[in-house]
Amino acid sequence: MRYLTFALTKGRLADKTMELLNKAGITCREMQDKNTRKLIFVNEDLKMKFFLSKGPDVPTYVEYGAADIGIVGKDTIMEEGRNIYEVLDLGFGKCRMCVCGPQEARECLKHHELIRVATKYPNIAKDYFYNKKNQTVEIIKLNGSIELAPIVGLSEVIVDIVETGSTLRENGLTVLEEVCPLSARMVVNQVSMRMENQRITELITSVNKVLKEERDIIL
Ligand code: PRP
Repeated sequence: MRYLTFALTKGRLADKTMELLNKAGITCREMQDKNTRKLIFVNEDLKMKFFLSKGPDVPTYVEYGAADIGIVGKDTIMEEGRNIYEVLDLGFGKCRMCVCGPQEARECLKHHELIRVATKYPNIAKDYFYNKKNQTVEIIKLNGSIELAPIVGLSEVIVDIVETGSTLRENGLTVLEEVCPLSARMVVNQVSMRMENQRITELITSVNKVLKEERDIIL
């Protein structure tokens, strides 16, 4: 049996993923050492490997088959636009992709003015303004602290992730439009899905069962 390889998003998402996989009987003792700087971990009994990568790289590893399965945010899947299968919504890491800005920017949006949009997600922003809203805008790519842009006059609005809304509030900004809801997803390489169909289908079924049980407890 060959190894089934998972690409996990380093950080909180990887911790939440392992918590969920553990409940589905998929464990990796090596990964429990929180002080390790290792990037790849193995469970020889299950013939599974797990590696930690930066979120935007997860769809790349999965598309090229360096990983069979990936766990990554929907925002990254949309932005990267890779040829991969999205098979499961894991329900954690819930947040929203939104157009945000100062209240005054509402008017510019309403009148479809040629505005500047700062974002870490130029493809998502482009798709939203050009294809969904039919509004021509200038998109400015930034790498973080996006909320700064309208405050210092770089752009009228931003397209960014809103989770609790506190970054917006503390910087005098607000949600103006919602682009889409986001959460962590499981993605699968297209060839692996065919070649390792039984193992991957069983995995999806058992993770889905845990998710359903958790939902039932909440309800
Ligand atoms: C994200 C996002 C917002 C913030 C939203 O930034 O870009 O700035 O979190 O969270 P909130 O609604 O709970 O305040 P992140 O912390 O990932 O850092 P970044 O600014 O470098 O992107």
